[in-house]
Amino acid sequence: MAAIETYLNEHSEAFLKELFELLRIPSISADPDCANDMATAARWVADKLAAIGMKSEVIPTKGHPIVYGESPKVDGAPTVLVYGHYDVQPVDPLDQWVSPPFDPEVRQGRIYARGATDDKGQMLTHLLSAQAWLQTEGRLPVNLKYLIEGEEEVGSEALSAYVAENTEKLACDCIVVSDSGQFGPGQPAITYGLRGITCCEIVVQGPNRDLHSGSFGGSITNPALALARILSGLIGDDGKVQVPGFYDDVVPLTDLERKQMAELPFDETQYMGQVGVPDTWGEAGFTALERRWARPTFEINGLTSGYQGTGGKTIIPARASAKISFRLVPNQSPETINEGIRAMVEKLALPGVKVEVRGMHGAPGLLVPLDSPYVAAASKALEHAFGRAPVMTREGGSIPVVATLHKQLAADTLLLGWGQDDDNAHSPNERFLVEDFYRGIRASARLWEEIAQI
Ligand code: BES
Ligand code: ZN
Repeated sequence: MAAIETYLNEHSEAFLKELFELLRIPSISADPDCANDMATAARWVADKLAAIGMKSEVIPTKGHPIVYGESPKVDGAPTVLVYGHYDVQPVDPLDQWVSPPFDPEVRQGRIYARGATDDKGQMLTHLLSAQAWLQTEGRLPVNLKYLIEGEEEVGSEALSAYVAENTEKLACDCIVVSDSGQFGPGQPAITYGLRGITCCEIVVQGPNRDLHSGSFGGSITNPALALARILSGLIGDDGKVQVPGFYDDVVPLTDLERKQMAELPFDETQYMGQVGVPDTWGEAGFTALERRWARPTFEINGLTSGYQGTGGKTIIPARASAKISFRLVPNQSPETINEGIRAMVEKLALPGVKVEVRGMHGAPGLLVPLDSPYVAAASKALEHAFGRAPVMTREGGSIPVVATLHKQLAADTLLLGWGQDDDNAHSPNERFLVEDFYRGIRASARLWEEIAQI
């Protein structure tokens, strides 16, 4: 693999330039105004696959297009399916970005742009590693299939259906996903668990217009108050979600897992400092890592009602709404949980307003076994690229389609994240260490070789 290493070193600047091209495309899947940019980003990925010698296609869907690629056939070699996403999260609050989100730049060894780590930068590592193989060796040691979507950040609805209908086309021995993080800088990780999720919006409609709070106050239900009641009723003082039956299917952490998590070098004070909070909070009886990785939660993602301008305005707002999400853990069914949430919201609603639950969608969590030859191969590849053996972690985030891929394709799943906790995914000033980008490419190039040798 010496020629490949040389190629990677010699092309590091070119790789960065290409990532910048992709980062310049504002592919925000949640924003209908970005529909053209979504198509442009999909085309960019498909063209890149074709340029390195893959068969590639852009597959239209009801939502945003899916990109599929396939490397030249190597008879007798294992097949690896690489999953990633080219869509990104919205960028607001825009005024908090030091440089514009779609005008990437490197500052102090970090690439700043929306999508740098989540997931354009991470996803691209697996294309560039294949390029290095094909350009130097003229072949790949494995068969690669690429499945790159544009709806990960909005629930992967189209892709989930596509996977179910195309299991033969997507058949593989192993699935590789780089859309998560390392345990810390220079400490690579293999992730064996992801949380699931269910999201929705609660809309509370009160009077037919904003009203004078003096003239009308006290006689009708305030929608903002009704919403606040619902939201606070969903979670107890002990951090437990109050939806009946919510914990019924939660698989408890084993003593061994708790011990292993406790042994990881996680510094809670440093964690608090990193995000700028005076304390941690969550479900009683669990450590911060356990709460983040292995326990379900309730979060408010956005909250709107009433007057937001300068000064005060004495009104009863006509309407209040909240975007909320629940992180789920493996074995909790989003469908069952959704029914419980609907019933609970209804029960918590004050009289005198109309309460609606809108746009509910969810995906289950995932736990994958660690005693597989693919995990051993990945460990070697990571150790080669990062100079350190990986630790085994779970992650609190969700990658909605991965459980579907894992189940439908019945293949081992490797979650190999190159990002960092403080990469600002979903936040202003998203970033990705240049070094992590390069180490990711190197690990990926080595992974193909290690898998071929299983
Ligand atoms: N890359 C993340 C998932 C992730 C985050 C994995 C942190 C590990 C650690 C992914 O792009 C993501 O953010 N997914 C969304 C899905 C949701 C919108 C349905 C998430 O988790 O919020
Ligand atoms: Zn994300």
